[in-house]
Amino acid sequence: MWRAAGKLSVGAAVLGGGATAVAIATSDDPSTNFKICTIVPLRLLRDALTVATIVGDYQYSLWNLKEGSIEWSKAKHEVHKRSAHRLQDLCFRNGGIYIKLGQHISQLEYVVPEEYVQIMRVSMLKRCPVSSYDQVHNVVIKELGGPPEKIFAEFDPNPLASASLAQVHAARTHDGQKVAVKVQHIFGGSILLILHVKMAFLCNLDCGWLMKFVKVHPSIPRTNFSDGSEECQLLSTTVELDFLFEARNSVKCLDNFRRLSPRTAQSIYAPKVYWNLSTTRLLTMEFMDAAEITDVTAIRSLGLEPVDVSKLVTRAFAEMIFKHGFVHCDPHAANMMVRPLPSNKWNIFGRRKPQLILLDHGLYRELDFSTRTNYAALWKGLVFADANAIKENSIKLGAGEDLCALFAGVLTMRPWKKVIDPSADHLVLEGNDGDRSELQMYASLYFPQISELLRRLPRVILLMLKTNDCLRAVNHVLLQGSSLETFFIVGRIASEAVADTKRSIWGSLCIWLEMVLLEARILGLRVALQFYSLRRAI
Ligand SMILES: Nc1ncnc2c1ncn2[C@@H]1O[C@H](COP(=O)(O)OP(=O)(O)O)[C@@H](O)[C@H]1O
Ligand SMILES: [Mg+2]
Repeated sequence: MWRAAGKLSVGAAVLGGGATAVAIATSDDPSTNFKICTIVPLRLLRDALTVATIVGDYQYSLWNLKEGSIEWSKAKHEVHKRSAHRLQDLCFRNGGIYIKLGQHISQLEYVVPEEYVQIMRVSMLKRCPVSSYDQVHNVVIKELGGPPEKIFAEFDPNPLASASLAQVHAARTHDGQKVAVKVQHIFGGSILLILHVKMAFLCNLDCGWLMKFVKVHPSIPRTNFSDGSEECQLLSTTVELDFLFEARNSVKCLDNFRRLSPRTAQSIYAPKVYWNLSTTRLLTMEFMDAAEITDVTAIRSLGLEPVDVSKLVTRAFAEMIFKHGFVHCDPHAANMMVRPLPSNKWNIFGRRKPQLILLDHGLYRELDFSTRTNYAALWKGLVFADANAIKENSIKLGAGEDLCALFAGVLTMRPWKKVIDPSADHLVLEGNDGDRSELQMYASLYFPQISELLRRLPRVILLMLKTNDCLRAVNHVLLQGSSLETFFIVGRIASEAVADTKRSIWGSLCIWLEMVLLEARILGLRVALQFYSLRRAI
C-alpha cells in the first residue's frame, strides 16, 4: 500500500511539473500562472497523502474485527466520519474542481456511506473559497474597464455566495436595477490546463490503483469514478469557465421551454443577463429574490408547498431531458431557487404555484435524437415495469444484455426484482435504514459490474446519471423521502416524448389516443396505490 502511495506521489510530482511548465509557457498572464503553478505539485502530494491516510485508517481500524459485529460497525462508522472529514479538508485546501467533486459526492445518497454524504453536503454547497475584495476589484477593472464603484452605482464588497469557480456580489446598476455580479476566482481560467492533466491523473490513474485496493478491502466506500472522470473532462473543455457561453445557455434553455413545452414555460425562469456588463470572466444578471430550492421553511413562508416544488423540478428536468435534448447537468440545491409564480395570486386554500429559477448554466449537454428517444423509452419501461422495453432500450444505449438489469437498478436505485414487479407500488422505496443499507450493499457487491457499465455507457448518459443523482437529492429533502409522483411525472413526459417521435407515422389522432390510454394507465396506478395504502393501514 505504502509503495503504491509512493508511486502515486512521484507520478503526481512529475505530472504536476510538466503541466506547470506548459501552463506558464502558454499563458497570457505568466506571473499569476507562475504563482499558481508552483503550488500544484504540493497539491498533488497532498492528494496522495490523503488517499494513503484514508486507506491506512480503514485497514488499521478494522483490523481483526469480525465483519458485522457491533465493534466492527462502530469502528466503521468512526472511520467513515474521519475519512469524510479528510476528504472534505482536501477539497477545501485544493479548491476549484475538487469542490465540484465534493459536491458530487454529497449527491450520491444511497451509494456512498451516509457519513460522507452528510459531511460533504453541509460543507461543500455553502463553504467555498473566497477571493479577496482586492482580487474582485482587479477582475472588474480588467473585464469592464473600471473599478466596481464606478461601473456600478452600488457594489457590495462582501460576496453573497461563493462557489468553486466564482463568487457572486450583489450590486445596483446606475439605472437602479438590483443585479448579481458573478466574478470568476482569479485562478479560474488560467489554471485550466493544469486541472485537465491533474484530474485525468487523479480520476484515471490513481483511481485505478484505488479500485485495486477496494477489491481487497470491502469496507472502503466506493463511488463511480468514471462519472467523476467524465465531469473532469467536461470541465476541462473551458466551456464552464466562459460566462458568455453560460449566459447563452440560459437563453437557449428558456427558448426551448417556450417552443417545446409551452405549458411549463411560464413556471421556469432564468435571471436576465446584462450583456453590456458581462464578459467571459464576469457575468452581470438580474438579482433573484427567491428561496433556495431545499429551504423548506422559506418555501412554506412564501405560501408554496414543497411537494409542488418537487413536482415542478421533476417536470422541468424531464422536459429538458426527454423533449428538448438540451439539459442543465448541474441541478444541485445551490443552483436552483423558487418563488411564487409572479402572475399567480393566492388560491382559496392558501396555496400558490411555484416558479423554478435555474442558476448556473455552465454545464449543459445535448442528447442527439436517437439517444434522447431511447432514453425516454427506457424510462417509460422503468415506470411501467415493462421488462422488454427496459432490455431493448438499455441495449440500444450500450449497456449490453448482461448489464441491463444493473442499469435499471442504477437509474431507479431499486433492485431489479422491484423494477419489473407489475404492482402499482413497485418503485416505492421506504427510505429507511434497511433500504439504505440494501442499496449500499448492492453498490459494493456489484462494484466491478458497475464500473464496467459506466465504461460502456455513452458519456452523455453518464451525465444524465449525475443529473439524476442531483435531482434525487433535492427531491429527497423536499419530500422527506421518495415519492411515486416523481416517477409518474417522468413516465408521463417520457411517454409523450416517445409518442411524439411517431407523430409523422401515426398522425395526431393516434398520438391523442395513446395519451388518453397513458392517462388511464396512470389513473389505474394511482387507484391501485390508494388501495394498497388502505390495505396496509388496515
Ligand atoms: N442572479 C442571482 N441572484 C441571486 N443570487 C444568485 C444569482 N446568481 C447566483 N446567485 C447565488 O450565487 C451562488 C453561486 O452562483 P453560481 O452561478 O451557481 O456560481 P458557480 O458557477 O460558481 O457555482 C448561487 O448558489 C446563488 O446562491
Ligand atoms: Mg453553482
